[in-house]
Amino acid sequence: MSEAEKNSRKSSKGSPVTQAIHGVHHPDPWRALNPPLYQTSTYTFPDMETVDRVLEGEEEGYVYSRGGNPTVSRFEEVVTLLEKGEASRAFASGMGAISATIVHLARGNKAVHLPLTIYSGTRAFVRKFLEPWGVPVRWFDPRQTDWLEKLEGTVKRGDGCIFLETPTNPTMDILDLKRLSDLCRPKNVPIVVDNTFATPVLQNPLSLGCDLVVHSATKYLGGHGDLLGGVVTGDADRIAAIRGEEGSFLGATLSPFNAWLLLRGIKTLHLRMEKHTENARAVASFLAGHPKVRRVYYPGLPSHSGYAVARRQMVSPGGMLSFEVSDARAARDFCDRLSLVGIGVSLGDPESLIEHPWSMSHRWLGEEERRSVGVLPGFLRMSVGLESWEDLVTDMDRSLG
Ligand SMILES: Cc1ncc(COP(=O)(O)O)c(C=O)c1O
Repeated sequence: MSEAEKNSRKSSKGSPVTQAIHGVHHPDPWRALNPPLYQTSTYTFPDMETVDRVLEGEEEGYVYSRGGNPTVSRFEEVVTLLEKGEASRAFASGMGAISATIVHLARGNKAVHLPLTIYSGTRAFVRKFLEPWGVPVRWFDPRQTDWLEKLEGTVKRGDGCIFLETPTNPTMDILDLKRLSDLCRPKNVPIVVDNTFATPVLQNPLSLGCDLVVHSATKYLGGHGDLLGGVVTGDADRIAAIRGEEGSFLGATLSPFNAWLLLRGIKTLHLRMEKHTENARAVASFLAGHPKVRRVYYPGLPSHSGYAVARRQMVSPGGMLSFEVSDARAARDFCDRLSLVGIGVSLGDPESLIEHPWSMSHRWLGEEERRSVGVLPGFLRMSVGLESWEDLVTDMDRSLG
């Protein structure tokens, strides 16, 4: 058996946990443990006949790294394995993946449906670009118990897409993906799920009948707070179209180095998600019992409205939670008193981070709009990190006073 055959046999084996670690191996002349970093903008050809074959797709090859790069391809392959899709396309950031995917599906001014409580950057993209371009945008409110029935009534055959996330950022709403896909499948409108909060370890939207999954790889996939990246995964035809169109010509290409860091980070994703969840459960139950906390938004608590659905569609509730104290003053003072938990807008890192959406991620929305999307003055969002949860609870207990 040749070395190449041995390597390819090796990469096709095992569960997703094993594949996240071993699935990235391609034949390597030096049998390096880790994948090479192809830090190059372009590729050369031995002759013009090879140029023709590569450009016609008769021979595998790369032309220019905006279109594709071997290190980036490996990252795409691993995400495809983990999300149980057919293909993936990587981007320079989560917003790169989200904007390219929505632009692709909305072309021809096809309607886009989104939950009101979607991530603020996606909302800003829709408001600042899609709406002025004349793309019909239909908002639905996932906090209403009959949101699915209402959405089914609004979605029409030929619409561009339903774009959502679950759990939502920052209000932690849980949307039932299986029911959504069962109800909307007959209309043949692609369902796109931003799976950033859950990660492919805790939730696989494609297996629940959805069509495309996007990630801000900046968060848990990278897992170390040292890069920006994004990715979309789905069926081979749609991903090939996104790759060749928005992926190539909107220019938000993932850098080879960030792909290399992502390949390193993703190997420990399963372990990290277990610990993030263990810590978040401990912090959520501490907060739920604290007299100064009005409400805790964590789908792992039986009191959460999405508890039952989260148990069905997620392996575990993950490492993100939100909670509410009396008002903006109390929330800001709490943040100021914290010494271990950092104040910051990102998430999914080893370090616990807290943000006050009223003052930070949602600062630029009017007061009424902030309230309408569930961002109240005393509302805080926390990315529970990998520290010892006892230390986190001590820091928070002291800071709540
Ligand atoms: C749920 C979600 N989706 C997308 C994004 C955007 O990702 P990026 O910051 O990598 O562009 C974020 C960023 O916070 C997010 O939380």
